[in-house]
Amino acid sequence: YVIGIDLGTSAVKTVLVNTKGELCAKATKNYPLLHGKTGYSEQDPNEWVQQTASALHELLSNSKVNSEDIEGISYSGQMHGLVLLDKNHNLLRYSILWNDTRTTTQCQRLYEMIGERRLLEITKNQALEGFTLPKLLWVKEHEPEIFEQTAVFMLPKDYLRFKMTGVIHSEYSDAAGTLLLNVNEKNWSEEICQLVGIDVNICPPLVESSECVGTVNKEMAKQTGLTTSTKVFAGGADNACGAIGAGILLSGETLCSIGTSGVVLSYEERSDRDFAGKVHYFNHGKENAFYTMGVTLSAGYSLSWFRDNFAENESFENMVANIDKVPIGANGLLFTPYLVGERTPHADATIRGSFIGMDAFHKKGDFTRAVIEGITFSLNESIEIFRENGKEITSIVSIGGGAKSDTWLQIQADVFNAKIIKLSTEQGPALGAAMLAAYGCGWYNSLEECAGSFIGISKTYMPNLGNVEVYKQLYALYKEVYDQTKDLSK
Ligand code: XUL
Repeated sequence: YVIGIDLGTSAVKTVLVNTKGELCAKATKNYPLLHGKTGYSEQDPNEWVQQTASALHELLSNSKVNSEDIEGISYSGQMHGLVLLDKNHNLLRYSILWNDTRTTTQCQRLYEMIGERRLLEITKNQALEGFTLPKLLWVKEHEPEIFEQTAVFMLPKDYLRFKMTGVIHSEYSDAAGTLLLNVNEKNWSEEICQLVGIDVNICPPLVESSECVGTVNKEMAKQTGLTTSTKVFAGGADNACGAIGAGILLSGETLCSIGTSGVVLSYEERSDRDFAGKVHYFNHGKENAFYTMGVTLSAGYSLSWFRDNFAENESFENMVANIDKVPIGANGLLFTPYLVGERTPHADATIRGSFIGMDAFHKKGDFTRAVIEGITFSLNESIEIFRENGKEITSIVSIGGGAKSDTWLQIQADVFNAKIIKLSTEQGPALGAAMLAAYGCGWYNSLEECAGSFIGISKTYMPNLGNVEVYKQLYALYKEVYDQTKDLSK
């Protein structure tokens, strides 16, 4: 058996799978987000460790599996979060998370210090508020006494793994989201560190995602019921693990994942593609592979916002089922999902959403359909960037909340103009983490071979050519709304 641990933003999810990838048990524990001030989003790393120990304890109690038979563990984690440790490896402050937006000034300053082109050349990404380096600079500026004591910085799941093994590492897929990694050369950029005044020695040693970095320590074994012979593998960023868990491991393979935020990511075998920073470009959890990714900040969140405010007593299933009765285009109603700003393609924290074309005859169902279509249009903007840069996208694996409804899956096929694949084995990034452990343990010769055994397809959805044409016109209108409304939100 192996265990996959996904250290998410609101909860830690653990899965126990056997050698065929069959799910034997799962356990989840929640923890709070701390919003001390507007735009702040922090978490107590001790909470991650305690809740993971408690989830693992429950996981083992729920299964009939003997803990000696658990060969390996690996991790998936929320990306970009900054954890700071002093020379005795004690925590210096709460972690500043990926969805914290306090660092706009630091992003600007990064461009001034490094130069936009040079930053892109080295890291392949733009300076965004969510990434780790702007957070480090914020601490340096606003909490110099903490910065001075910093001996090492870590990412969330790397801290959790450190507490479970006693050894400090990071790995390329998460390091890629810091703006400190030379993505192509796979090393910490001394040039960037020097230009921004950070000692490169605070960066943790780097390994591959499937590398064994140790075994479970005594303290954690005591708390969880695991044995100290269980091997621990480095793991990966949640988006990389999401890709692994959905089998996105070869060129031409693309994933659409609709959770609170929505992500479209596409496999890249080369590091020298240039998307000019319009989409993220990160190292994969598979060795020497990469992926490009676009993010819609309020995807599922737009729908839950709509339900909480205007359809309080309805279940999501019911709401989404009712949009079948509304024609394509929601009777002329258009929605842009910029409830908390937008990442791809606008990288604009201040833009806000809109309903356009409201008419006296519109009913709730029209609004629901408009919300779902608007979210899907936003994700299509990322797909369009991939295609404009020469990527061929003909089929897309869809996971998350957006994959629970036949109607929404068909809307994805029609808006994306691609075959949509729904999985029968959807466990998200936690399964990807379990696959890294399975591959690391030597059960399979490659992650692709592991995917062949762990991942199954349940259904496919083909684009309906008539609908594709209608959506093309609506999408053109959708794209105009950003420019028309951006000054209204400032
Ligand atoms: C990726 C990102 C989020 C977090 C969420 O760039 O910010 O997807 O990884 O966990």
